Amino acid sequence: MLNISSVNQYYGESHTLWDLNLDVPEGACMCLMGRNGVGKTTLLKSIMGLIPVRSGEIIFNDRKISSDKPEQRAELGIGYVPQGREIFPLLTVEENLKIGLRAAAKSGIKKVPDHVYEIFPVLKQMLNRRGGDLSGGQQQQLAIGRALVLNPKLLILDEPTEGIQPNIVSEIGDVIIRLNRAKGMSPPGFEPKAEIHDAISRINQELGVTVLLVEQKLPFARKVADKFCIMERGRDVAKGDMSELNEDMVKRYLTV
Ligand SMILES: Nc1ncnc2c1ncn2[C@@H]1O[C@H](COP(=O)(O)OP(=O)(O)O)[C@@H](O)[C@H]1O
Ligand SMILES: [Mg+2]
Repeated sequence: MLNISSVNQYYGESHTLWDLNLDVPEGACMCLMGRNGVGKTTLLKSIMGLIPVRSGEIIFNDRKISSDKPEQRAELGIGYVPQGREIFPLLTVEENLKIGLRAAAKSGIKKVPDHVYEIFPVLKQMLNRRGGDLSGGQQQQLAIGRALVLNPKLLILDEPTEGIQPNIVSEIGDVIIRLNRAKGMSPPGFEPKAEIHDAISRINQELGVTVLLVEQKLPFARKVADKFCIMERGRDVAKGDMSELNEDMVKRYLTV
């Protein structure tokens, strides 16, 4: 679904991504890993078109998108949840969600789809509250909800569990798993709340959301993702199925 080949990116003179390659197959939940400062966020912003790449190709569903604007990429079906959430603290929850619609004016979607509220009931309860009054976990749900309003085919999340309470972390994990995986393919012991389960299975059947996420918490990454790609100093250095992520790689590339 997403094919990145030989991408090079610079901030001014500073060469940040080096001949980077990454393939995210349709239906996958891919975790991009690596220590702080290796270029994970830079890669996600390059995929979204928020920063330009110097060379290489980014292809989404067989279309070259490397020079498309961010709105065009959103219209094609890429949803983005930025690191640090970037919700608008003075706008209400509803206004924040509607900003998600504006990310792709040509999409034809005029209204926040009901399933967003079914997945995150707290957003419905807090519709008229200001974004800044929400807890960290609620803000993260809002940021994910905002990306889901356009029914993305590929959902990109940058450190969705950063600075969030453990109980909300596992709830967010459940939502990502359900958005990504078809019914009956969840890991053993996984059973989300019934109403959330229904809403997500519906979206899942309609959309089949492919996921690319950055995550530093290893147990969370192992639980939600089925593939990994590790970056070091702007390069992709190891990748494979999550079951192949071994202690050597963890020690060499991930532990601080
Ligand atoms: N806007 C920017 N201008 C210049 N350098 C940047 C900018 N954003 C990030 N960097 C640098 O690029 C490198 C990669 O950063 P980033 O992609 O944020 O890493 P990660 O998300 O893996 O922690 C770091 O060395 C960082 O200091
Ligand atoms: Mg980052």
